[in-house]
Amino acid sequence: MLAPVAPRVRLRPTMLSDLDFVVSVEHDPRNLPFITPWERTQHEGAVRFPDFRHFIVESGGAYERSGFVILQGCRNPHGSVELKRIVLQDKGRGVGRACVRQLKAMAFGDLRAHRFWLDVKSLNARALGLYASEGFVEEGRLRESVRVRLGGVDGYDTLIVMSMLDREYQARLGLGCEAGAEIA
Ligand SMILES: CC(C)(COP(=O)(O)OP(=O)(O)OC[C@H]1O[C@@H](n2cnc3c(N)ncnc32)[C@H](O)[C@@H]1OP(=O)(O)O)[C@@H](O)C(=O)NCCC(=O)NCCS
Repeated sequence: MLAPVAPRVRLRPTMLSDLDFVVSVEHDPRNLPFITPWERTQHEGAVRFPDFRHFIVESGGAYERSGFVILQGCRNPHGSVELKRIVLQDKGRGVGRACVRQLKAMAFGDLRAHRFWLDVKSLNARALGLYASEGFVEEGRLRESVRVRLGGVDGYDTLIVMSMLDREYQARLGLGCEAGAEIA
């Protein structure tokens, strides 16, 4: 059987001229159930403030814009870096996995993180599956902490906090689990 080919994915710093794209991706009805969208000014702040890294995801043969990612806590004194947001238009083709690998390499490499963490809604089976298979460990649950509207019904969802520690990342590297994480 042929091994699947990893998609071409690269991250480049978001420019203010990308923010119309960022806001439109964030407000896409396919993405809204899984995130809490920001005001444009919050994105502007994240582009400018050194505690954040805001990137456009480019993928495919022509490296088209296909989403964005945000890291927060890049100057955190405890070395705790957060994968604040990842939103892709191009879903289910391995782009998310490639981004998460590149972000881990950035967090534990350039940013010298001790802990790389995120939270994810319990209804987000795809993201949960991706993070677990990329080695993130569940730390705990913030029960019914976010409002959601599903099928026209209002309710609450639980946030699941997941993380990876630097020694766990090093172990994955040693086992060859982080292939393809070269930052383009
Ligand atoms: C979540 C997201 C970033 C994932 O990126 P993606 O490119 O779609 O994901 P990938 O194709 O790289 O991989 C997804 C993995 O989850 C698996 N998956 C998909 N649906 C799943 C489900 N219902 N349950 C468990 N796993 C699932 C896929 O099979 C795939 O694993 P595989 O490589 O072994 O086949 C993307 O779908 C997205 O932007 N979603 C909307 C916004 C969002 O949810 N952001 C994250 C907030 S925490």
